[in-house]
Amino acid sequence: MKKTVIVSSPGKLIIGGEHAVVYGRRALVTSIGMRLYMQLTEEEQTNESTSPLLKVSFQDTNQQHLIDLSNIQNSYPIEIQGILFVYNRFKSFVSDRSQLNIQVHSEIPIGAGLGSSAAFSVCLVGCFYLLYHKTLNREDINELSYKVECIFHGTPSGIDNTISTYGQSLVYCRAVKKHINFRLSNLAIIDTGIPKSTKRMVELVRLFVESNQQEGERILNDVERCVDSMIEHSEQIGQLFQENQQLLKCLGVSTLEIDNIIEILAKKNILAKITGAGGGGCLIALTSCFTKDQILDLLQDNHIKSIAFVECGVEGLREEQTF
Ligand code: MEV
Repeated sequence: MKKTVIVSSPGKLIIGGEHAVVYGRRALVTSIGMRLYMQLTEEEQTNESTSPLLKVSFQDTNQQHLIDLSNIQNSYPIEIQGILFVYNRFKSFVSDRSQLNIQVHSEIPIGAGLGSSAAFSVCLVGCFYLLYHKTLNREDINELSYKVECIFHGTPSGIDNTISTYGQSLVYCRAVKKHINFRLSNLAIIDTGIPKSTKRMVELVRLFVESNQQEGERILNDVERCVDSMIEHSEQIGQLFQENQQLLKCLGVSTLEIDNIIEILAKKNILAKITGAGGGGCLIALTSCFTKDQILDLLQDNHIKSIAFVECGVEGLREEQTF
């Protein structure tokens, strides 16, 4: 019998405290109205095969993989390694004559600091839970999706999978989350189109903090103070974006291109910062006076990939009826 489940979960914006959160400092994060959708189907194979099969389709990139689950290799792309890790946890439920089909499509740009990999991890674990345990137990799903995130990023703080699982806005510190009523209107996401690797940027900060211990600690503490002010004085958020950006620059995760964009925007009183790992990816900018096209005009020499105004504080992982 064919069984199908569909889930979705949101991307995220770190409003303040990225990187410092890896060192146990508080960070402020919100979910956004861009989601990743995943469908998992288990059906009986039509041929006489006696080993289970996995078919994965990434619709946005038109990539497909067909894997014999009784003969798993070591050389799969990282997303497939994540899927196989979760499959291993559930394989006792899967019969030898089954074919598992996973389909993915996403509104979240990949590798841009908007939590696409966490949404993937959370949906993946969510699909398996829903198919085999008939529930979406968020605590369990968050815990297992953190392990998938570790395959992708090394030693992440867990903030990305937590916000994608629970949604809304959170203050996050050492795996403890606190929901807060935090919403920003007029928040633009500026995608620089510069590819970035979270793993590499986290490693870069680790090198900096380890080789400049006193200065590193001071910067991390200042980031946390900045985050606390964002929570308490949201009316000063623009200025606090600037402060947090300066501290991120000290940690070495800004680039000349990003500094240049931020400087151009600041001249028009549009206050912006990196969101996520930095080194490229996306910036967030507060503006009530400028449209998307006007910001693109201001940055016409900077090869901006896209600008979007997004909804913040949306629902986390959920079951969907259609893919
Ligand atoms: C990535 O979205 C956020 C970082 O702080 C890494 C992490 O928290 O794992 C850069």
